[in-house]
Amino acid sequence: MSPIEKNISIAVLASGSGTNLEAIAQAIEEGGIPARIAIVISDNPDAFALERAGRRGIPTKVIELGDYPDRPAFDRAIRDALRQAGVDLVVLAGYMKLVGPEILEAFSGRIMNIHPALLPSFPGEHGVSDALQHGVKVSGVTVHFVDEGLDTGPIIVQEAVPVEENDDEESLHGRIHLAEYRAYPLAIKLFAQGRLQIEGRKVKVLPQK
Ligand code: GRF
Repeated sequence: MSPIEKNISIAVLASGSGTNLEAIAQAIEEGGIPARIAIVISDNPDAFALERAGRRGIPTKVIELGDYPDRPAFDRAIRDALRQAGVDLVVLAGYMKLVGPEILEAFSGRIMNIHPALLPSFPGEHGVSDALQHGVKVSGVTVHFVDEGLDTGPIIVQEAVPVEENDDEESLHGRIHLAEYRAYPLAIKLFAQGRLQIEGRKVKVLPQK
């Protein structure tokens, strides 16, 4: 890290296993990403991501939809927790809900998601199986900024993953996961270095200073 680079503060939102969280935490630990994970927030108290965060000494918070009168109140609770943690970037890593307008407005241009397909093809919850069923020969991963749509925001990083003749959902998703563990740390690093500039639908990657 150059002496003028300041560590940015990240929140990871995860609903499930959290292998991307693990990969991001490891990449930060290994150096080269001027960032720290300030908090892991989950809408699912049973998410293994919480366990992974705990093992690394990262603070966690569970915010469950069922504890709030409606969806906007739930999203406000998440927004408030993000503000309280003072984060610069919100990283969705297997977070299984759409981010509400309350969060989007507060963190505009500062929320990223990872999707297990080459967007704009195969958005939504079943990106891996939809791609397989369509018979594509190449799928992959996409890291993008989050807007109000479902997997529609400006694309930051993509990595292609060839589909093999006998792939099923599990085998293809396994290889896609490996690409995710490269693509997400890269996207976060570029953001932390101040090198991502959103211009309409495009994300310009600026040269390293
Ligand atoms: C990843 O495949 C990601 O692309 C999708 O959800 C999965 C999360 O996996 N959005 P994990 O919880 O990080 O292991």
